[in-house]
Amino acid sequence: MAPKNVKIEFEGKTIELPVTEGSEQEKAFDIGTLRAKTGLVTYDNGFANTSSCQSKITFLDGEKGILRYRGYPIEELSEKKSFLEVAYLLLNGELPQSHEYKSFEKEIWSNMKLPSNMEALLKSFDKNTHPMAALSAAVVSMSGNFANLTNPEDKAQSEEAMLKTLGLLPVVAAAQYRLSKGEKVIPPKAEYSYCENFLWMMRGEKPTPSEVKALDLLLILHADHEQNCSTSTVRLVGSSAANLFASLSAGICALWGPLHGGANQAVIEMLEEIHKNGGDIPKYVAMAKDKTSTFRLMGFGHRVYKNFDPRASIIKVACDRVLKEMGVSNPLLGIAKKLEEAALGDSYFKEKKLYPNVDFYSGIIYSALKIPVEMFTVMFAIGRLPGWMSHWKELNEEGAKIGRPRQVYTGYTERHIEGQDEKKSFKKAA
Ligand code: SDX
Repeated sequence: MAPKNVKIEFEGKTIELPVTEGSEQEKAFDIGTLRAKTGLVTYDNGFANTSSCQSKITFLDGEKGILRYRGYPIEELSEKKSFLEVAYLLLNGELPQSHEYKSFEKEIWSNMKLPSNMEALLKSFDKNTHPMAALSAAVVSMSGNFANLTNPEDKAQSEEAMLKTLGLLPVVAAAQYRLSKGEKVIPPKAEYSYCENFLWMMRGEKPTPSEVKALDLLLILHADHEQNCSTSTVRLVGSSAANLFASLSAGICALWGPLHGGANQAVIEMLEEIHKNGGDIPKYVAMAKDKTSTFRLMGFGHRVYKNFDPRASIIKVACDRVLKEMGVSNPLLGIAKKLEEAALGDSYFKEKKLYPNVDFYSGIIYSALKIPVEMFTVMFAIGRLPGWMSHWKELNEEGAKIGRPRQVYTGYTERHIEGQDEKKSFKKAA
């Protein structure tokens, strides 16, 4: 039986802090009274050892490469369910019965209409605007278009806001892409499924079943990942009682970073550079190990997975299948596999437990789907949306406290202004 407390001894005093245990036997000690009892706060750079909340949504075990949404392994969900069924599961805790699924799908479809002022907003961006900037701006602008859905304490409003966002996100993403190319917006078709419609709205041609299946798989594998950087951002913003659209917009910006969701774009750019420079794998592996070089093997390494990222394993297998089904060959896949093999045979990567993560192979499939590389992180956002919203819903249902970490101050101690004894008065403009 695990001990019920941990003891902390400090400056001759001993305090006991309660141990809490999760449903998967993870243990944490609750430091809620630490500062009051000892004057101490904890310091944990990057929150690597700190739980910010208790959650029932996703469980992952980084050592064993386990990832489950509401208890279901992603291997089963990605094989047997659609992205919208998984979205329903994350948001509601159970897989939908067929009548529940039908009304969920109908609700989402009824929200797939781009408001004219949002189309005008998308048209207003500078041509150099990254799609993630446009996506974040469009999502937060929804708090204006749907101001009646911005009270986080109103369950019905929040449910409707989530359905609205599930419907609009792919529409906004595809519209922004086409408008940025000077092309017309293509509206969705009622007879198409969610993933089928996205590819239709992007390209204006009916996608093949294997393209739709490939996109469905990728969105499922991106749907949630417990307290990653962007989900923690959504929870922190949401903890201030900010509305759903504002919280999601912040999460989109957090995901954009190349150390997080932006890595899928950075991986393809890295593979293209290696390909362009003759595919000299050893040179790039050496650069990744060289502390004086800023080069990193993008798509490698993970804060939690220290053996393998189960999503990367599934996507790697899917790459071969999808490219074969679509009759597409991509030299970057060969480079990626050689890079993985070289890195996994190298002591630097083995010692630091650096393995391919979800972003390492996903871009190969997005490229095969003719999705432009600057849209890859937008695809990650479309996949992660149900995860972000399920965490926002959970924190509101549980009445989470506002997030407000402490710090360890290392700046100047008190000092005073010298010399100037008269208060500088700003000369009023003549
Ligand atoms: C995602 O958290 C999630 O769940 C995220 C995510 C999700 O689904 O939401 O899984 C999605 O963001 C996946 C990660 C995508 N990012 C990348 O692929 C970028 C490349 N990877 C790294 O930058 C890094 O591995 C991170 C950011 C993913 C993790 O960083 P950590 O946990 O802070 O680890 P670290 O940077 O402290 O690295 C530990 C050591 C360092 O060497 P030392 O200082 O100990 O000598 O490993 C080295 C790093 O230099 N290292 C790498 C490396 N990643 C880590 N060296 C070369 N290439 C790399 N990719």
